[in-house]
Amino acid sequence: MQDIVRAIDECRVCGHNDWLDVVSFGSTPLAGNLLGEEDDPSSEPLFPLDVVVCRECRLMTLRHVIEPDVLFGHYRYVASDAGSIIQHMGQLVDLCVERIGLTDQDLVVEFGSNTGAHLDLFRQAGMRVVGVDPARNLAGIANERGVETIPAGFTAEVGRAIAAGHGQARLVYGRQCFAHIPDIHEVVDGVTALLAPDGLFFVEVPYLAELLANNEFDTIFHEHLSYFSLGSLCRLFESHGLRVVDVRTADVHGGSIVVFAAPATAGYEVRPAVAEMLAKERSQGIAEEATYREFAERTERVRAQIRELVRGLVAAGRSVAGYGAPTKGSALLAACGLGHQEIRFCSDTTVLKQGKMFPGSRIPIWSPEQARDHVPDYYLLLAWNYAPEIISKEKEFLENGGRFIVPIPEPRVISADGVAG
Ligand code: TMP
Ligand code: ZN
Repeated sequence: MQDIVRAIDECRVCGHNDWLDVVSFGSTPLAGNLLGEEDDPSSEPLFPLDVVVCRECRLMTLRHVIEPDVLFGHYRYVASDAGSIIQHMGQLVDLCVERIGLTDQDLVVEFGSNTGAHLDLFRQAGMRVVGVDPARNLAGIANERGVETIPAGFTAEVGRAIAAGHGQARLVYGRQCFAHIPDIHEVVDGVTALLAPDGLFFVEVPYLAELLANNEFDTIFHEHLSYFSLGSLCRLFESHGLRVVDVRTADVHGGSIVVFAAPATAGYEVRPAVAEMLAKERSQGIAEEATYREFAERTERVRAQIRELVRGLVAAGRSVAGYGAPTKGSALLAACGLGHQEIRFCSDTTVLKQGKMFPGSRIPIWSPEQARDHVPDYYLLLAWNYAPEIISKEKEFLENGGRFIVPIPEPRVISADGVAG
């Protein structure tokens, strides 16, 4: 165990070593490590899940880091093909083309490129694309669809190798993966090694201010090492000669931000949104210790409310299943102490997840077709970030008397008539 888990000492952004304890979820299995029938439950490892904040730069992070190959060597997270995500990816392509003036044959590189779905959109728009992803199984899928993908973590060496083989990139980006990376300085070194002098770098990360405001404790799990504010990202990028030139919010994964940075010597103007968001972070108390203590208190309360609601329903003879099997759903059930006694199954559209089980609880994951023969009284909406899309899709379930429990920011029950309490 010693080899694969280590407590952090220095802050991965600023190098200081002065931590505020925020919340601890005890020792839990890896939320994203879905099990097959063949996996032996007694050998399932548990890892500490403790959250701390750097008193210097306010990076929120897990206290312990797990060897990346254990987490991501055979990663089962497949980027969602939900309509709202595809639409969002398309908008990002348009935005980048417009902002950078990308033209045919410009090189676009994505790290953490998963199955290559987003890069495929850039390719269709005429750009040359290269993906980098440490999950060999996912890189394989991307290569099969024709998106050249290097099965590796993104480092300065990989950045230099891509530049040598393909030339400098006009756009380098990482969507929803930056929070997973222990050595983020190495990654930003890779970006600067690869980026053209007039190039742009963007990252999309779940936004710490949203996590805190909406009690999104279920997005805290081992794969998510870092929880960024714009302030901590600015500090990180500046230490590599990159200037944050624009930021925008994105209504994905519970509230994210897309941060654009460029070499400080490039001619991009800094948009007013940057100073505005930094000022908002200050007024929201992102620098205050009380903000994190209050978050911890709300987290305790909401975990207990979800547990009591679900247990009460089950005790009253109602059936409850999970809708969606996202990693955060696995984390939510573990954090609330809910298991297979309460949750019969989780239905999920992702073929790779179907037939697997959640770690720890061993709740089975079924296809929506399989779930249709076992419609529960209540669906706990584990994929709550798609609530509008899912609720409008599942009208029939609601009209037949079914109810959704939306767990975050605090549990509420939705019936055909609206919010039922
Ligand atoms: P994500 O939040 O990480 O994208 O995961 C959402 C999960 O929810 C993903 O495994 C797909 C699943 N899902 C469904 O099963 N049905 C749906 O209608 C949607 C939108 C998502
Ligand atoms: Zn720090």
